[in-house]
Amino acid sequence: MRKVRKAVFPVAGLGTRFLPATKAIPKEMLTVVDRPVIQYVVDEAREAGIEHFIFVTGRNKAVIEDHFDVQFELYDTLSQRGKKEQLDRLVGMQPAPGQTSFTRQQVPLGLGHAVWCARDLVGDEPFALLLPDMIMRSWKSCLAGMVELYEHTGNNIIAVQECAPEEAHKYGIVGKGADTHTGFEITQMVEKPAKGTAPSNFYINGRYILQPEIFAILENQERGAGNEIQLTDAMIKLGKEQDLYGYHFRGETYDCGSPEGFVEANLSFALDRPDMRKTVIGVIDRLLSRPG
Ligand code: UTP
Repeated sequence: MRKVRKAVFPVAGLGTRFLPATKAIPKEMLTVVDRPVIQYVVDEAREAGIEHFIFVTGRNKAVIEDHFDVQFELYDTLSQRGKKEQLDRLVGMQPAPGQTSFTRQQVPLGLGHAVWCARDLVGDEPFALLLPDMIMRSWKSCLAGMVELYEHTGNNIIAVQECAPEEAHKYGIVGKGADTHTGFEITQMVEKPAKGTAPSNFYINGRYILQPEIFAILENQERGAGNEIQLTDAMIKLGKEQDLYGYHFRGETYDCGSPEGFVEANLSFALDRPDMRKTVIGVIDRLLSRPG
């Protein structure tokens, strides 16, 4: 079985749901408490043993590359001022030299197309794919749990979690087959099923382990919903040749690509911080008791 060493982060989307914030700032650089969203996702991948981080970027996204670079002046200033804690934190988040690659999706033709842009950097090996606007909260990294399942099953792993059945039409939904280890066989996949037609309430939450054969499928994939090249369409084809397994993630997922999900993520992560929890609860109480 080939190890999952590389992860792809498609960060070339336009972020229209978050305008005007995303006019000049990539949504992946918006901060949840004190870390950019993309840092949470890279940390999750690192916790899962990923050794190489591949970013598919686009116009106005250069700041993401800067974020993962060494900032000599800043590090030097922090060191001179004795700010060891802050410096250690920055250095600890830093990928090692040569561990990152960046390529551009020149035209935002959809998630499937963005993934295809990483084909040469991934090469002929399985890879993880993490949608960087989805961040997870759980005792163990979602991707780490997927890697563990992959080591049992091989093939392709798609992380899923349960949603309220009446919400299923908003998501990519999978059909559930036989249980296996921490997951189950996926029998079918539908993107945003019409109300009342979803095969289950297990929705795809933005984490995947895929075999490299997906690239040949994406290469010939026609445009689908929204006139974009859709990853789900390609995965449905992949499922005809190889097994797909669902990893049942039991933590929380926040969609930081939407203002509501982003605010919820901020509240959730701030409440988790021992140094902030009391203050945040006090602020929420005060705001809730505000007249009118
Ligand atoms: P979204 O569906 O969230 O699209 O993409 P978006 O353009 O980023 O945001 P909205 O819907 O306009 O607000 C899911 C993921 O796929 C990436 C995005 O960056 C996001 O991580 N993506 C999407 C690309 O990299 N390229 C694309 O052409 C489309």
